[in-house]
Amino acid sequence: PMIYAVTPTYTRYVQKAELTRISQTLALVPNVHWILVEDSDEKTDLVRNLIADSNLLVTHLNTKTPVIEKLGDKDPRWKKHRGVTQRNAGLKWLRSNLELNKDKGVVYFMDDDNTYSTKLFKEIAKVKKVGVWPVGLVGGLNAETLILDQHTGKVVGYRSGWKADRKFAIDMAGFAINLDLILSKPEAQFSYEMEKGFQESEFLSYFTSKEELEPLADNCTKVYVWHTRTEKPVVKGIVPGLEV
Ligand code: UGA
Ligand code: MN
Repeated sequence: PMIYAVTPTYTRYVQKAELTRISQTLALVPNVHWILVEDSDEKTDLVRNLIADSNLLVTHLNTKTPVIEKLGDKDPRWKKHRGVTQRNAGLKWLRSNLELNKDKGVVYFMDDDNTYSTKLFKEIAKVKKVGVWPVGLVGGLNAETLILDQHTGKVVGYRSGWKADRKFAIDMAGFAINLDLILSKPEAQFSYEMEKGFQESEFLSYFTSKEELEPLADNCTKVYVWHTRTEKPVVKGIVPGLEV
């Protein structure tokens, strides 16, 4: 199956470094279609050039986060949802360009700043409906993971540092959804109306139940993705003529 990786991205000093890192991960993955969605009114040359250099199969989109929903420079990051408009643009592209029962694939929401093992994509390729796995370095834990029933191997709960009682207490990096499901539920999308921290849980609720989740990564015993965050650099001077 084709893996459709939907990545929101926005202009900041570390953007090219982040996109270089994940595009070079994707270069090691067979059958991947990268849907890269810029949070901007216009597509930027920086992203255009990076795509041209990458040799990847890429769909380049852009849509700006509404100003009232945008995180201010001094706001704590939990104050606003991030990537909502961009992921929805990715979903819209999938639904307008792919056909149910003809195109086969799995959809993964791949933030631009996390760290992804190439092994993760082998797991994503196995997803029948909704696959789940541990995510490292998130929610105040060394990893968030699924609690599996010892006998049935099914998901019975969540080990999450934050609101583990959510219907699906899973970070965006911790699940992937079959394209058939995405195409057959066109109303499913992300929304600013959702409570903060509930995007993943509410979105997954359109498609599945806890009992149906497919635990991957060796029954959730392996960590293949890390919720890393890049420090914001202090830039005191600009060298002209360099795209950084
Ligand atoms: C956590 C989750 O891992 C995200 O998937 C979720 O979107 C986010 O919380 C949330 O609560 O909305 P976190 O590391 O805090 O992630 O968020 P960022 O990595 O800053 O942003 C997630 C994605 O949105 C990234 O791909 C980033 O490039 C993009 N983004 C962020 C924008 O497109 N525009 C922005 O103004 C900020
Ligand atoms: Mn992040």
